[in-house]
Amino acid sequence: MKFDTPAGQNPIDQLKVVGKATDRIDGKYKTTGTAPYAYERHDVAPNQAYGYVLGATIAKGRVRGIDTAAARRAPGVVAIVTTLDTPRLERGRMNAAYLFGGDAIQHYHQAVAVVVAETFEQARAAAFLVRVDYAPEPGRFDLAAEAPAAPPVGGNSGEGSGAAGAERVGDFEGAFAQAPVQLDATYATADESHAMMEPHATIAAWTGDRLTLWTSNQMIAWSKGSVAKILGLKPENVRVDSPYVGGGFGGKLFVRADAVLAALGARAAGRPVKVALTRPLIANNTTHRPATIQRIRLGATKDGTLTAIGHESTSGNLADGKPETAVDQTKLLYAGANRLTAMKLARLDLPEGNAMRAPGEAPGLLALEVAMDEMAEKLGIDPVEFRIRNDTQTDPMKPGRRFSHRNLVGCLRTGAEKFGWAKRNPTPGQVRDGRFLVGIGMAAGFRNNLLVKSGARVRLDRDGRVTVETDMTDIGTGSYTIIAQTAAEMMGVPLDRVVVRLGDSDFPASAGSGGQFGANNATSGVYAACVQLREAVAQRLGINSADAVFANGQVRSGNRAVPLGEAAQAGELSAVDAIEYGDLAKTYQQSTFAGHFVEVGVDADTAEVRVRRMLAVCAAGRILNPKSARSQVIGGMTMGVGAALMEELAVDTRRGFFVNHDLAGYEVPVHADIPRQEVIFLDEADPISSPMKAKGVGELGICGVGAAVANAVYNATGVRVRDFPITLDKLI
Ligand code: MOS
Repeated sequence: MKFDTPAGQNPIDQLKVVGKATDRIDGKYKTTGTAPYAYERHDVAPNQAYGYVLGATIAKGRVRGIDTAAARRAPGVVAIVTTLDTPRLERGRMNAAYLFGGDAIQHYHQAVAVVVAETFEQARAAAFLVRVDYAPEPGRFDLAAEAPAAPPVGGNSGEGSGAAGAERVGDFEGAFAQAPVQLDATYATADESHAMMEPHATIAAWTGDRLTLWTSNQMIAWSKGSVAKILGLKPENVRVDSPYVGGGFGGKLFVRADAVLAALGARAAGRPVKVALTRPLIANNTTHRPATIQRIRLGATKDGTLTAIGHESTSGNLADGKPETAVDQTKLLYAGANRLTAMKLARLDLPEGNAMRAPGEAPGLLALEVAMDEMAEKLGIDPVEFRIRNDTQTDPMKPGRRFSHRNLVGCLRTGAEKFGWAKRNPTPGQVRDGRFLVGIGMAAGFRNNLLVKSGARVRLDRDGRVTVETDMTDIGTGSYTIIAQTAAEMMGVPLDRVVVRLGDSDFPASAGSGGQFGANNATSGVYAACVQLREAVAQRLGINSADAVFANGQVRSGNRAVPLGEAAQAGELSAVDAIEYGDLAKTYQQSTFAGHFVEVGVDADTAEVRVRRMLAVCAAGRILNPKSARSQVIGGMTMGVGAALMEELAVDTRRGFFVNHDLAGYEVPVHADIPRQEVIFLDEADPISSPMKAKGVGELGICGVGAAVANAVYNATGVRVRDFPITLDKLI
């Protein structure tokens, strides 16, 4: 089904099931341990052996030799595959680093061998007997040192925009020089790790040339293609299955070493092999959100109208990697006649930088929205009013191009009212509560809404049960539930008559879970398939589909009412379709908006920061399931607090690796750290986004949060920290 014009009335608008707060279907399986994660799928293939991945202990250079003799003699060892036994493998989609094969080491903890044994403990013990002889080479590991010489580049987070070099509108330099009020500030954000609960894990089994991977992955169709490319297989000989994913945050958008080495290990062992990356491997073997250095220049008239907006971001990556697209939101968030946005890429020999929840906007807004706070203060204008004054309903980079729907102003006004913004003391360091200096801060949130083709199959059986099959994943986001809600609404059946099967590459290809595009697109694909199924039902029953009403488990037409299952008495009905959008995203800018409000307490003696309460007001189209959407947003808010206050992969700039590569050293906040988190969804539906009239929300939740925290810390203390995270040493 092609969707390229605004949606009119359709069955989804009944909102009998869609739009209702609904418990997650998979919730009971996850909380009772009956949802098997990739590593726990003992039943899918008999006689599984355990693989243990060995990571390189140099950051750059060559492997001269690998001595496996002692390891091969160790108890239980079944097979060992080393990088020297294997030609350098092709890279899959979005892989900047080579995952395995050959003698070149590109980054620390790159996989150099997999040891396969009868038990995990035997594999691990034997892995420590493998002797690797390295020829190390010097590398570049320090972003701050490399940044001044970093060349300008085009960006592509794999899901965002990709313009080359600087983008300009008007005369930025001239307008900035003439602006009566100027701000020129530089901000730094840290390397961050996804720190998802479930590590990357895969069970691999071969049947002749056919490979099956039971894995943990966000993007099944990408991964199937990538596995085929990496291992030189025909795509039709690869099956990827990932029905439950214990978090991804972008770290599982692509194939990683667990999948490749489980496959190679299984081939060498002649039996199924399971591999999980150990927690210490995740920081350096997989990907991370790259650190940035961002310069922001704002020029404004005295009444607070922005006349010049400049944002330049420098980040590092491997030679074939991309920059962090931290300037993306700056192109679209505020009006302003003269604009400059640019990215530079420093070639670093650290592990591969790649997408992490709201790549681009999450670190970009940490800089932009603190700069907006600083500018508001210089102007003597309330930060909420300053943002509202510079709102735009059209794309500031492309005159005349409108947003499909934009209510940033509503988010800011509602948030200010509900949070009690009017009671804030704008002078920093004035409010005390016992030991704590108390401050309030806010920021705008912004994240694009991406339109991605998405397909599904829908089946109807004679009991009136509807089964949805799509390779869409549920990474903890609630996909099972909103897909079931969509099918229930379309077919007029209660939720418990819908069965949803996800994550299998044998099912129609979906949008997958990434870039907060999963919910809107995957449900739209299910919508499209349901439109076909309704046709098939009407045809079978000999009624005109335009007259058919699907409700209460029945199909009604005129005076006739037939139980839905009757249409399938002569055999199951099945329909496959996909949603496609044509040029819709070119015609309209599609984005989501938020206002984030935060209150912090800063210990006056130790400078420890506690977040006391948070509010997010979101304008993100129709909310398909307010309960799971709220969970997504508060998860994002918590992660945003991490970026502001705690999360930092510490770089050893001599040896070239992230030092704190476990959850003892890499600190993340949890919900229990924040006593009050509230989310308000503005009541809206975006008829231009899809037939569902929904948009993404899972990444919007993190966008702008860190800046709101930082602005609250400033309001509490009068100390402006521009180097994230704001650890207490920077406040004392
Ligand atoms: Mo996302 S960073 O596309 O999972």
